[in-house]
Amino acid sequence: MNISVCIGSACHLKGSYPIITMLKDAISKNGLENDVTVSASFCLGQCSSEGVSVKIDDEIVTGISPENLSELFENRVLKVIKK
Ligand code: FES
Repeated sequence: MNISVCIGSACHLKGSYPIITMLKDAISKNGLENDVTVSASFCLGQCSSEGVSVKIDDEIVTGISPENLSELFENRVLKVIKK
């Protein structure tokens, strides 16, 4: 699985870098280094959405913030990988 975090200027201002750091922490805490990669992406074309945009494999998810990141990680990463 690959998670691309948008670092376009709008998302950057909304906090892409803390999101990337938190994702990397969550991945290593769960021992998923071989299963999930985190990368940075240019604008995903969703700048007007609230929060940061991320792309999980082929799906764009918007509105990511430090507050809801753990929920996203749980539902969209852990549950999918453990299947
Ligand atoms: S800057 Fe992130 S979607 Fe455009």
